Amino acid sequence: MDEVNRNMQADLIVTHAAQLLTVAGGHGPRRGVAMADLSIIEDGALAVQGGRIAAVGTTAEVLADFTAGRVIDARGQVVLPGFVDAHTHLVWAGDRAGEFEQRVAGASYMEIMAAGGGIMSTVRATRAASLEELVTQSRARLDRMLAHGTTTAEVKTGYGLELASELKQLEAIRQLDATHPVDLVPTFLGAHAVPAEYAGRADEYVDLVVDMMLPAVSDSLIADRLSQAALPDEERYAIGDRRYAIGDKPFFCDVFCEEGAFDLAQSRRVLEAAQALGCGLKMHVDEFQPLGGTRLAVELGAVSADHLVCTPPQEIELLARSDAIAVALPGTPFGLGQHQYTPARAIIEAGGALALATDLNPGTCWCESMPFIIALACRYMRMMPAEAITAATRNAACAIGLGKETGSLEAGKWADVIILEVDDYRHLGYRFGGNLVQTVVKRGEIVKEGSTA
Ligand code: NIG
Ligand code: FE
Repeated sequence: MDEVNRNMQADLIVTHAAQLLTVAGGHGPRRGVAMADLSIIEDGALAVQGGRIAAVGTTAEVLADFTAGRVIDARGQVVLPGFVDAHTHLVWAGDRAGEFEQRVAGASYMEIMAAGGGIMSTVRATRAASLEELVTQSRARLDRMLAHGTTTAEVKTGYGLELASELKQLEAIRQLDATHPVDLVPTFLGAHAVPAEYAGRADEYVDLVVDMMLPAVSDSLIADRLSQAALPDEERYAIGDRRYAIGDKPFFCDVFCEEGAFDLAQSRRVLEAAQALGCGLKMHVDEFQPLGGTRLAVELGAVSADHLVCTPPQEIELLARSDAIAVALPGTPFGLGQHQYTPARAIIEAGGALALATDLNPGTCWCESMPFIIALACRYMRMMPAEAITAATRNAACAIGLGKETGSLEAGKWADVIILEVDDYRHLGYRFGGNLVQTVVKRGEIVKEGSTA
């Protein structure tokens, strides 16, 4: 930096990191073999101004240009971007511990769902919960995510499956985003399951999603629709003038494309309608049965295709050559006690961009920890720790449309930074069951400090 910049005042400086993993190099994802490159700076430092990163370099470089009242000495520690959890169902009420026991005893996830449990059991609890109860229960989970290093997350609806309750979930997401340090990106998943009252009439439920729910929840239309629309009083939900695209954050629409949920034609109807309203697209594909959802995600220009457990090799190739991010959720097969995982090596070898996420939900994967997901990805998807870190930061940010704002440590991005208590990044992956995250900085604020609890 030149003379003029000397002695600039930063709000916060982190110095002397044994390894500073920048994962830097622009706004797009890292693809294929490049995922293994973390762009590490030894004795690294960074300066923060106004909630964003002002400079990244060696400690000598950064201290030559910046002074700050607050300095964190990260000697003997690893500094990296905060994790981005690109696929969660954070907002729900109740739990499904009983179903967990049934599965341990041999019942399958889809059998439990077909018998009226599964997603519908959480739908009943979520419909019955007040907004305050939903926010309180979800906030406890969000606190644990933050403690494990997550600084940004995507959150889906899909436990309402009727307009008023879907809006209640969106309002919970909005309130949590506004009051909790973790940035949240909302996704409408009205097509998560066919609700009991539409049993055997999936197409009619899709009509409802397309004709009524989607327009009502989509960004700028929402307030209007609710104030004017012919909604019965019991289905109204007080939302004031709020818009659900929070600030300039993106807004997505997702579909569970699966046998027993929504077929390919139904998924297409929902997604095309969402696209026409300006939503970015995501899809749950190939979790249990391959229905051709990955091909559809690529055709429609979806931002991501998620799960990808039983995707046929030709569709893996197609996905890897497209701009869609492949989001792997290894906590889900693990949570279900299954042995088939997303074929990460095939995706990476084909030049694809892979992201990791928890899939946090009460049915298949109640896991708030991205480091645990990394540990699973290394073992069962044979990802190198460096690849898994790229997948959990920069590529995950791209999978939720926030590649410009977060996911790497470089000037201009949000100062979303975590500090591990170890001096070698490979301890992420290697170790599990505890918490190596000692300090979390979110948009320049220290929101967890000096403890690994
Ligand atoms: O991503 N696949 C569908 N949705 C969730 C599970 C939701 C639930 O069981 O409540 C998933 O695995
Ligand atoms: Fe999911």
